[in-house]
Amino acid sequence: MTQSPLLRRTAPRIVEEDGSFRTKMLGIAAGMDNVIALGRGDPDFHTPGHIVDAAKRALDDNQHHYTGPTGLLQLRQAICDNLRGEYGLEYDADEIIVTAGVQESIMLCMLGLVHEGDEVLITSPRFTTYDTAVQLCGGVPIPVPTYQKDDFALDIDEINKRITPKTRMFVLVSPNNPTGAVTPPEVIRKIADLAIKHDILIIADEIYAKLIYPPHEHLSLATLPGMKERTITLNGFSKTYAMTGWRVGYMAAPADFVEKLTEPRHTLSINTCTVSQFAALAALTGPQQEIEATFRDYAERRAYLMEALTGAGLSFGAPGGAFYIYTNISATGMQAKSFCENLLRKTGVMVFPGDMFGEPNSDFIRISYLQPLPLIQEAMERIKGFIDSHKGAKA
Ligand SMILES: Cc1ncc(COP(=O)(O)O)c(C=O)c1O
Repeated sequence: MTQSPLLRRTAPRIVEEDGSFRTKMLGIAAGMDNVIALGRGDPDFHTPGHIVDAAKRALDDNQHHYTGPTGLLQLRQAICDNLRGEYGLEYDADEIIVTAGVQESIMLCMLGLVHEGDEVLITSPRFTTYDTAVQLCGGVPIPVPTYQKDDFALDIDEINKRITPKTRMFVLVSPNNPTGAVTPPEVIRKIADLAIKHDILIIADEIYAKLIYPPHEHLSLATLPGMKERTITLNGFSKTYAMTGWRVGYMAAPADFVEKLTEPRHTLSINTCTVSQFAALAALTGPQQEIEATFRDYAERRAYLMEALTGAGLSFGAPGGAFYIYTNISATGMQAKSFCENLLRKTGVMVFPGDMFGEPNSDFIRISYLQPLPLIQEAMERIKGFIDSHKGAKA
């Protein structure tokens, strides 16, 4: 087939991100009944009712016009109160930009900071949006590997040995996606020292920071001396408040940089959906019991899965946070992509291969525990049956 003139003239900055495996899996699942989806990072809980009501009220009150590009002042103030109360972070309303999810903040950060050829270090395995955003802006993503033997916790030496004269930024995602690894406070302090020593900027993606399982502890990098001025803190509503479709997140950074980014932010989408901003305001200022109950459910699902996976002969990095278990399936003799595709076709359980998190030919799968416990138990039965039948076929 001949290429359209549009395709022929695609700008070289548009890098090929291979989304074909995800599309293939979703296509297979669409043709099946009884699928248990443990693939995407989208909570199974509904957004709490008082948040939905706030959005309805906003519509009834004719709050369906543009807001300023950085977002509603009362929302930015509530974000600052929340950052202070939860994480000890000191930001003012003029240091916040509300965006369409953390996703838009990521792009905005890279647009604002990446120069041609800059190297950006990223905790890995990783949320590969970072790679795409860095590459779209002419930079080079450099993965910093983490390992199962350490429960995928970051090792400062792995960062150190990747620093070159071109290193400009380090992306710290803690807890991380897909591993759930929480970077311990002592490592965070070492990262701060490195950043100051080598004049490196930090993006601290804290989207999962409310979802931490004891005894793990979260430390926000921008609370450390000398760090606020070189850090952008990212956070949002999708994961904590089961608000993925509302598209609200934010970046927090020094006011002069926020001012500089205000026009580019305006160019991207003018402002974050106004109704969603009112919903986000209700999320922060309203009752928290319902989301706290979801955290307890996640903890129960995590504990069950860790035991059940071990019982099925699979190992993993014990996740300190988020709602994922990055599971090693090398004992089955299959590679992750073929494991995931065959598991889906034969049993209707959908999980994602490590290949989707920047690790080609991976031996790992990411299981998201975002279904009610009885469905997760059913999924585990199907996974065990699948592994046994594979062993039987090989024998
Ligand atoms: C580490 C990380 N950052 C950012 C995002 C984007 O989240 P959202 O745009 O829904 O706020 C995700 C989504 O999975 C994520 O895992």
